[in-house]
Amino acid sequence: MSTQQQETVVEEQKVQQPTEGEQEDQVKPSSVNPYEVGENVDYDKLISEFGCSKIDQSLIDRVEKLTGKKAHPFLTREIFFSHRDLNLILDNYEKGIPFYLYTGRGPSTESMHLGHLMPFIFTKYLQDAFDVPLVIQLTDDEKFFHKGDFTLEEYQKLAIENAKDIIACGFDIEKTFIFRNTDYVGHMYPNICKIQKAVTYNQLKGIFGVTPSDNCGKFAFPAVQAAPAISTSFPHIFGNKNVFCLIPQGIDQDPYFRMTRDVQYKLKVPKTACIHSKFFPSLQGFGTKMGSTVPNSAIFLTDTPKQIKEKINKSVSGGRATKEEQEQFGADLTVDIPYHYLRFFLEDDARLEEIRVKYSTGKMLTGEVKKELIGILQKIIGDHQEKRKAITNDKVLEYMKIRPLKFKTPQNQLEAKQEQ
Ligand code: TRP
Repeated sequence: MSTQQQETVVEEQKVQQPTEGEQEDQVKPSSVNPYEVGENVDYDKLISEFGCSKIDQSLIDRVEKLTGKKAHPFLTREIFFSHRDLNLILDNYEKGIPFYLYTGRGPSTESMHLGHLMPFIFTKYLQDAFDVPLVIQLTDDEKFFHKGDFTLEEYQKLAIENAKDIIACGFDIEKTFIFRNTDYVGHMYPNICKIQKAVTYNQLKGIFGVTPSDNCGKFAFPAVQAAPAISTSFPHIFGNKNVFCLIPQGIDQDPYFRMTRDVQYKLKVPKTACIHSKFFPSLQGFGTKMGSTVPNSAIFLTDTPKQIKEKINKSVSGGRATKEEQEQFGADLTVDIPYHYLRFFLEDDARLEEIRVKYSTGKMLTGEVKKELIGILQKIIGDHQEKRKAITNDKVLEYMKIRPLKFKTPQNQLEAKQEQ
């Protein structure tokens, strides 16, 4: 595909105006650290500071209607709680105008934990429900510039190992393209150049807090994370068409995509839509750090059933000190980690509500709640390990192969649309 063919042309999709609060912002991803916050975060305040919108019941109803499927519990339980322009994605989808999904992972460690899986579980639901293509970016470059614990070659390997955990979530190979930046970046380079030209040092400083003494990889990287939100970065999938993009992400990634949307406006290509999740809490309580250096802080994807049991039993709960007190006062659910984990992973709404009522009014003890959670997590992690075992390096390469993807839009094939 020549550069000329890749030239961005706005066709049937209209370019949206920037919404208020997107032009200048001072919120850096680092100022919202997913590990140092928790339910302590005032998410309503974040929504208004960031200029996003809350996902309300009417939007959830529309998703159900358009997909003909029950909304994912992450939506109904406000775990994915905020968005930008999801309504426009749905308006277009309703008219038969397709979109694609884009998400990513920074491969900083081999030991991925449950929190890392969350955006992928949700993305898998979106892919199945809307029957749309998906691109997944592995940012080995980002972690090399920002972390520096390993060599570049080690980050490249970690990307492949992480890809196995991602693939184990069940993404359909015919609809999913996974790419590692250090391999694929050349294909996106025309778009990266256009993005880099549209962003100044002062903007980067305002958004990400870069300083003159930072390595220049940190300056160059935001354009690399932005580029996949422009469909012409994937000519093998979209040709030279401008296709709408929806990005499931942790709310800490929003600054990248606010920058992206401003640039897209300047480049006259469709502005990407976003859907944001809250942070996943550490086992040691809201406001504590979750990571591989704190072994009891998280359930890792490699944990044994015994480790899961021990960790959950040690996790911070809002249950009272004695059985009598628990029966009298009930548990404090605002600090109770086992209950919060059930909100993520117990699918049965009726059972979750029963636990909420009984546990908070003292009719259920912490031990019983923990036991139920242990069973659920042992199954999820056990199933994940089984699936991951089957994923070889060759399988990863198949997902990473540059090839067209198959997909349908609700009323017609995108391919057919492209031929018009
Ligand atoms: N920067 C993200 C991380 O550190 C990785 C990432 C790249 C990403 N592109 C994305 C996350 C798009 C969400 C959506 O994990």
